[in-house]
Amino acid sequence: MPFNLSLTEREAAGLKRSLPVIERVLGRQLWADGKGYLNFAGNDYLGLSQAPELGAAAEAAAREFGVGAVASPLVVGHQAIHRELESELADWLGLEAVLLFSSGFSANQAVIKTLLGKTHWQWQDRLNHASLQEAGALSPARMQRFAHNDLAALAAKIRPGAGLIVSEGVFSMDGDQGDWHGLAQVAEQSRNWLMIDDAHGLGVLGKQGRGTLSEQGVAADKVQVTMGTFGKALGVSGAFVGGSRALIEYLHNHARSYVYSTHLPPPQAAAILAAVRLVQEADDQREQLRERVRQFRDGVASLPFELLPSATAIQPLIVGDESRTLAMAAQLRELGCWVGAIRPPTVPTGSARLRITLSAAHTRADIQRLVDALHRSLPR
Ligand SMILES: Cc1ncc(COP(=O)(O)O)c(C=O)c1O
Repeated sequence: MPFNLSLTEREAAGLKRSLPVIERVLGRQLWADGKGYLNFAGNDYLGLSQAPELGAAAEAAAREFGVGAVASPLVVGHQAIHRELESELADWLGLEAVLLFSSGFSANQAVIKTLLGKTHWQWQDRLNHASLQEAGALSPARMQRFAHNDLAALAAKIRPGAGLIVSEGVFSMDGDQGDWHGLAQVAEQSRNWLMIDDAHGLGVLGKQGRGTLSEQGVAADKVQVTMGTFGKALGVSGAFVGGSRALIEYLHNHARSYVYSTHLPPPQAAAILAAVRLVQEADDQREQLRERVRQFRDGVASLPFELLPSATAIQPLIVGDESRTLAMAAQLRELGCWVGAIRPPTVPTGSARLRITLSAAHTRADIQRLVDALHRSLPR
């Protein structure tokens, strides 16, 4: 057989992944194996996936336009609803233009593989998401990774005017934020471009939920490439890349994952548009989320694990050992709380963790139940 399909090594190291079948997810709750759980593993940070406005918009668009775009954007897939969404997104975020993608994974591939050639360099934070790192590895540009959030390490590697610095707004497995004033300064001084992946900051942070740059008071035009996703705080799925009109025009001419892929289904675009409108008005939900984060952090402060210093919806509890992490997640499930157990290679060896995600949809009682369950599930 020409392929090695063995998973023995992963199994022996306790790193084999299984694919759970979830019967139903309804925001703060999910059902699997006929049992109900509180959901602390999703990315629906504001609870918008359950907002009736999104469902109604999707239903109406399905009736009016059908359920599929039925073509790639440059053929006949790019419809008025897509254009309306692009225009409202650009206005909300203060971007000249945006381009829609069916996933954040493909958006990141598009930017990095399309912009960079073999004479270029890219500098990526070591904890960047797999989609960024994989795009970096596949692009012909040389890639250097710098220590997480270490601007001195970045400055030591940087070459003037040679490429793209890439980092995240809110890091997906750690919940902390990049230092965007510092990154913008390094980029400006070295005459390089800067790209933010704000998958986890969009909707949650900043004025009207505009994201990490707004939260940190960094002007959108300091960052040449902005990428955000619709599958987290916006409660749907899909992604966009935003920046100058020239950048967006270049991408829609050259990015293969854009040009050669069926466009977002109109009901999805309509639901995202409804989410973009709601999220700007969602200050109450953002405050509620912050309140739940405070309650959670106070409740677990005495646990014998490191709780990473995160002020966002992502609250990782570092257990370290992989099998211990799995055992705790299983015990939490017994107690009715569904929490992600994240192991290498998704996170560095020795830092297996419970990735706990909170949402404005959680009640105070939900958080208390999780805190109690965590105290009860400590390994003995
Ligand atoms: C930081 C980050 N970037 C990109 C992605 C990929 O986005 P999508 O799920 O839309 O493919 C994710 C998560 O899935 C992410 O956490």
